[in-house]
Amino acid sequence: MGAMVLTVPVGGHSSADSTDLSVLLTEPAQSLACGGLVAFPTETVYGIGADALDDTAIRRVFAAKGRPADNPLIVHLADASWIDRVVAEVTPLAAALMKAFWPGPLTMVLRARPAVPSVTTGGLVTVAVRVPDHVLARTLIGLADTPVSAPSANISGRPSATTAAHVRADLGQRIDWIIDGGPCRLGIESTVVDARGARPVVLREGGVTREMLGLAERAPGRGDPGPASGRSPGTAHPHYQPTAQVVLAPIGQGVAVANRLADRRQVGLLAPQGHDLDPRVQVLGLPLGAEELAAVMYQALRETDTRGLDIIVVEEVPDNGLGAAVMDRLRRASQS
Ligand code: TXA
Ligand code: MG
Repeated sequence: MGAMVLTVPVGGHSSADSTDLSVLLTEPAQSLACGGLVAFPTETVYGIGADALDDTAIRRVFAAKGRPADNPLIVHLADASWIDRVVAEVTPLAAALMKAFWPGPLTMVLRARPAVPSVTTGGLVTVAVRVPDHVLARTLIGLADTPVSAPSANISGRPSATTAAHVRADLGQRIDWIIDGGPCRLGIESTVVDARGARPVVLREGGVTREMLGLAERAPGRGDPGPASGRSPGTAHPHYQPTAQVVLAPIGQGVAVANRLADRRQVGLLAPQGHDLDPRVQVLGLPLGAEELAAVMYQALRETDTRGLDIIVVEEVPDNGLGAAVMDRLRRASQS
C-alpha cells in the first residue's frame, strides 16, 4: 500500500488560516505521534518525519531510506521554545544563533538530553536541531506535539527531494503520508554548525552562508575543520548522485563542454545560458547564479534519470555565499 498524499496549496510563507491547516493536518499529525512516517516540505528540501523520541519509528526511517546507522538525524522543532526537550545545554552562541536564524535553514549541533534515543543521534553525545521556516512543517510538528527527526526524503545516496513527486518516486511505498506543499523555496539543505563552542564551526554548508554567520570565507587551517576532520558524519557517505554521470564545467564553459560530449553520449545541460548549443543536448534549466541553481539542481539531477541521459553537464558558480553549498553538493554528486 502506498503513502496517503495530502495536497495543501500554500507557499512556505503563506499566512494561510492556521485553524484550517490544523484541521487538514490532524490525521498525518496523529500518524506521526503514533510512530508513523510522514514526509513534509520545509523551506530547504522535503524531509521524512518520524517521532524523534520513538526508537521504533526512527529505525523505520533508516530502513526506508537505506541510510547507514552511523549517520544521525536532524531533529525538527515547531518552535525555538521546544529546544529544552532535546538539548541539554543551550550555549550563549546557540541562543544568539537561534534568535538570528530561526525559523530557518540553520541546524545546530548541541549536547543531547539523555531522552533522545541513540538511533536518532547515531550514538553521539550531541543532537542536531532546527526550526524549519515552513508553515506546513511547523503546524504538523506542533500538532504531533513531539520533536520530529526528518532526514531528506530521498533514498540514501540519491539527490534530495524538492517536490512531493520526488518523495513519491523514492519512498511512496515505504512511508505512511506525503504532505504536498509544492516545490521547496531554497532547494538545498540547511547549514549544520557545531554551536557548543564560542564560535560556530560549519559541519555542512547550506542555506545560511558563512558570510551570514559572520565567518570569513572558507579558510582551511584557520580554525575550521578540513574536509577530513570534524565534518558531519553524513558527509563521508556518497550523496546526491543520479544514475547519469555529473560533469562540472568551469564558469563560462557549460555549452562548450556539453557540445564536446554530445557526439557520443546523451547529454543534458544546466548552465546560465544555452547560446550555440548543439541541438542534441537537452537543456535541463538555465539558472542565473547560485540561488537559482540551488532551487533547480536536485530536480535537474533527477530528470537525467527520467530522460535516460548518460551525462549532465553543470556549469559551476563562484564558491562563496550560497555558491559554497551548491558547489559542495555538486562536487559530491560528481564523485563516482
Ligand atoms: O535542510 C535540511 O537539513 C533537511 C530538511 C528536511 O530539514 N534535512 C537534512 O537531513 O538534510 P539529512 O539527514 O539529509 O542530513 C543531516 C545532516 C547529515 O550530514 C548528518 O550527518 C548531520 O546532519 N548531523 C545530524 N546530527 C548530527 C550530529 N549530532 N553531529 C554532527 N552532524 C550531525
Ligand atoms: Mg540528505
